[in-house]
Amino acid sequence: MSANHEEPIALAVIGGTGLYRLAGLEGVEAHQPVTHYGALSGPVRVGRINGRRVAFLARHGEGHSVPPHLVNYRANLAALHALGAQRVLALNTVGGITEDYGPRVLACPDQLIDYTWGRVSTYCEEPGTEVLHVDFGDPYTPSLRREVVAAAAKAGVDMVDGGCYGATQGPRLETRAEIARMRRDGCDLVGMTGMPEAGLARELGLDYACLAIVANWAAGAGPQTDEVITLEDVLANVAAATSGLPGVIEAMLAG
Ligand code: HPA
Repeated sequence: MSANHEEPIALAVIGGTGLYRLAGLEGVEAHQPVTHYGALSGPVRVGRINGRRVAFLARHGEGHSVPPHLVNYRANLAALHALGAQRVLALNTVGGITEDYGPRVLACPDQLIDYTWGRVSTYCEEPGTEVLHVDFGDPYTPSLRREVVAAAAKAGVDMVDGGCYGATQGPRLETRAEIARMRRDGCDLVGMTGMPEAGLARELGLDYACLAIVANWAAGAGPQTDEVITLEDVLANVAAATSGLPGVIEAMLAG
């Protein structure tokens, strides 16, 4: 991977399901780094929004070919870090569990619970590597979260400030009983990619915040508890909910 001596990257954005390109990114150069941890989900596209350098990476690959449990989270974040990014905005498509988090809501969660298993979840496992026990009481960087929420307000985009993201293994959706348990645990949102990404970002010392896009009521959670979740509904709701996203990102970059 080549060191980058240009102006630093002001923001790195990781796109989730339904978000494979970043609107408004101009003058894009594609980087295809191969990291010590292997290949990334796809190219990192570096360009400018309103004159500021921004990097974008589609978490599932640009053709959505990488399932949540096989995303090389370590390589993705290591590459963004090596390109000089210090701040990561993670876009995560999720299901809503509690009443304020219905379809098409945007939310900036402040807590998470990790239900994933069998994923490589740390950089600290090679012989000779110092074992870090990073503080993770606030899994999302509070200052970056505040910026996201303030940027949404400035852009006139409704966003719920806070909430607990439950990260499940996928790729199947959850049972109604699993969602009922998650609600009892205190989760407001459910997604499959929030972890180990947030923990790895903390190990690298990156600022990291999640902008969750609610695509559907989680199993049994909505007013119509026997509703079947379809990919068409998920993608239509993501498209509708993200119409305000470029404004939020521009407001973040304007500082
Ligand atoms: N569960 C888990 N992940 C998701 C969902 C869901 O209901 N919707 C979008 N991503």
